[in-house]
Amino acid sequence: MPDRAAGDEPQKVFVKSYGCQMNVYDSARMVDSLAGAGFSETAVIEDADLVILNTCHIREKASEKIFSELGKIKLLKQDRLASGKNTTIAVAGCVAQAEGGEILRRQKAVDLVVGPQNYHRLPDLVARARATPHIVDTEFPAEQKFDFLPHASAQVTRARGVSAFVTIQEGCDKFCSFCVVPYTRGAETSRTPQQILEEISILARAGVREVTLLGQNVNAYHGENPDGSVVSLAGLANMVAKIPGICRIRYTTSHPNDMADDLLEAHATQKALMPFLHLPVQSGSDRILSAMNRRHTARAYIELIRRVRASRPDIALSSDFIVGFPGETEEDFLETLKLIEYVGYASTFSFKYSPRPGTPGADLTDQVPEDVKQDRLRKLQDLVERQRAQFNQAMLGRRISILLEKAGRLAGQIVGKTPYLQTVQVNADSSMIGEVVDVIISRVGTNSLFGEMIRTGDNAGARRLENV
Ligand code: 5AD
Ligand code: SF4
Repeated sequence: MPDRAAGDEPQKVFVKSYGCQMNVYDSARMVDSLAGAGFSETAVIEDADLVILNTCHIREKASEKIFSELGKIKLLKQDRLASGKNTTIAVAGCVAQAEGGEILRRQKAVDLVVGPQNYHRLPDLVARARATPHIVDTEFPAEQKFDFLPHASAQVTRARGVSAFVTIQEGCDKFCSFCVVPYTRGAETSRTPQQILEEISILARAGVREVTLLGQNVNAYHGENPDGSVVSLAGLANMVAKIPGICRIRYTTSHPNDMADDLLEAHATQKALMPFLHLPVQSGSDRILSAMNRRHTARAYIELIRRVRASRPDIALSSDFIVGFPGETEEDFLETLKLIEYVGYASTFSFKYSPRPGTPGADLTDQVPEDVKQDRLRKLQDLVERQRAQFNQAMLGRRISILLEKAGRLAGQIVGKTPYLQTVQVNADSSMIGEVVDVIISRVGTNSLFGEMIRTGDNAGARRLENV
């Protein structure tokens, strides 16, 4: 059956993202780059001429989900074919990078497998896959995709609101022994400050007020200026803060060994930098930290937290934890609980260790039984849940600034965020979306806070661009 050429009729692309925020960002860039080839985005998969799954390989469950999803999409492809329509199926993201051609062997309906470093070639790859299916492109090309991908477009942004994610750094050279990222995303690279500032300026003009700077090792950011001088994450944050309209800056994810002095300093002096730090430690046991190749001790992490808090006393902390790394004893696990008790987290992500093929951890012999992992995860989550509830409870009665982000579920309600990344429901008019306002926290629910807006009189407009 002849395929409909682009330009015949508008082609539609459906993209589904799994995993981290970087995938969400990448998906938006893929849509932008395909727009140049005549595709428009659809949220209805049945209407799509091109379906892209942007996949995550970080844990086994995430990876396996893709194959069951592909089974369903294959049926959809058959249905559409029965009514004379072709569907091109592409697998992108970290599963694509890790499994490459193996995906085509497991699911023959897939036409294209494309790794994260090749998204700038997507329009060309799609055209090739339509002519001759079963294309795989998982090379790490010499050129940088960001030099070729279009910037975040104002059009995409308008649809997505006042808070945006921007990738500034990608890849990782740390090789923690549990992690696939150094293999799927490749070596650490930083985008240039010029590229990033230009992109954020476009976003700001489209109504974005808050940017989250993304990278697998974002605090290792080292962008090069045209004159060869190097800009750190702190330097970049200070430049971003000068962009008119941008009032809040966040960054994620950081490694403890890359928390530079100038970044701690920026937390003390740069008002736009939000007092929230996601700083994964993974474990509180030195033995396990060493086996994980984290290259720091629990004591060094705690000392770092002390310095972070000295710079910004109200900073809210967040971390990732893995329970059941090979060889983890009950004693090691108790060390992790002790660290959590000591630090006190506002939020956390915790996972059972999942052996990933190709990583050193997967070859270790003393894997922890599933029921032990499950039991430790539950205990850890009970503790961090108590800490989260306490952190939220402490907001009751406080005056706090929030960025009004989008309409709430109830009429007349707007959902906003505190500097500490808590969700707050406020009664406000939808015309105020994008403003930063002060509220008094009147109630603390399980998943969100409730706030009463403080009347700011006629200076409400002026507050719009204020840093908080
Ligand atoms: N098993 C379980 N959790 C993992 N993470 C990364 N790799 C694994 C794995 N193999 C977790 C880490 C990391 C977060 C993004 O995912 O905690 O910080
Ligand atoms: Fe994975 Fe993060 Fe370790 Fe890099 S620093 S290997 S991304 S866990």
